[in-house]
Amino acid sequence: MGEIFATTSGKGGVGKSATAVGLGLAFAGLNKKTLLVDMDEGLRCLDLLLGVDSKAVLDLGDAVKTEEINDIAYECSQKNLFLIPAPDTFGEIAPEALTAFAKKAEELYDVVIFDFPAGLQFELYSALPKKTLFLGIATPDPVSVRDIAAVGEKLASLGLNSRLIINRFSFKIHKKKFYQSIDGIIDASSIRLLGIVPEAEDVNTLSINHKLKRNSNASKAFLRIAERLQYKNIPLKNLKKI
Ligand SMILES: Nc1ncnc2c1ncn2[C@@H]1O[C@H](COP(=O)(O)OP(=O)(O)O)[C@@H](O)[C@H]1O
Ligand SMILES: [Mg+2]
Repeated sequence: MGEIFATTSGKGGVGKSATAVGLGLAFAGLNKKTLLVDMDEGLRCLDLLLGVDSKAVLDLGDAVKTEEINDIAYECSQKNLFLIPAPDTFGEIAPEALTAFAKKAEELYDVVIFDFPAGLQFELYSALPKKTLFLGIATPDPVSVRDIAAVGEKLASLGLNSRLIINRFSFKIHKKKFYQSIDGIIDASSIRLLGIVPEAEDVNTLSINHKLKRNSNASKAFLRIAERLQYKNIPLKNLKKI
């Protein structure tokens, strides 16, 4: 049975999709058969980030109808990484259909990552298997931190598990003390920290290069998070070196 993760945040543009792809690449690199599922109905984006947009004809709408997950999942250029694109139109994924899809997907893959759009979809979140770990993504910006605090509270009230990923961290900005300290962000969010991803050019250019640079700071950050998600005790890095 595979592990299931789902990205979440109320705000858009904080890096949910970038994190889903970064973690997908990291898990696939660890030899885990990994499925990314784009939940952004009407506004699909993972096919563009992964460079499979030209061959993406079928989508999650077809996958929930037919349960032919393996046939519909597109193989990405990274070995072990597969994508099911989001449907073109809204409202195609009913909660019961998502439950059945997730159950089938966890039988077929080692890791399944659902990339949700901004705006909270608690009905769909609750339709995922109980073991799903929600990855709350926030940038160090106070607006994003307040947003993820509210999300974490709501997830907890629904009995859903979540962990925090701080994205777009810049030591240069951190040093200037514009934003709260990392401890301050964790306290404000009340969600346990899973990892910190740096502001990085190779993340920003994913839609052009469809991969991260080997051994870049961002690649290493996603790998550390993937390893922690496999219960490896990887300590937090010195902020200067993230
Ligand atoms: N760590 C990062 N470093 C640099 N740019 C990033 C990083 N994370 C996200 N971005 C950029 O921020 C924008 C929004 O990211 P995206 O993953 O689409 O956010 P969301 O899915 O939360 O809406 C994109 O242009 C993306 O390239
Ligand atoms: Mg997104």
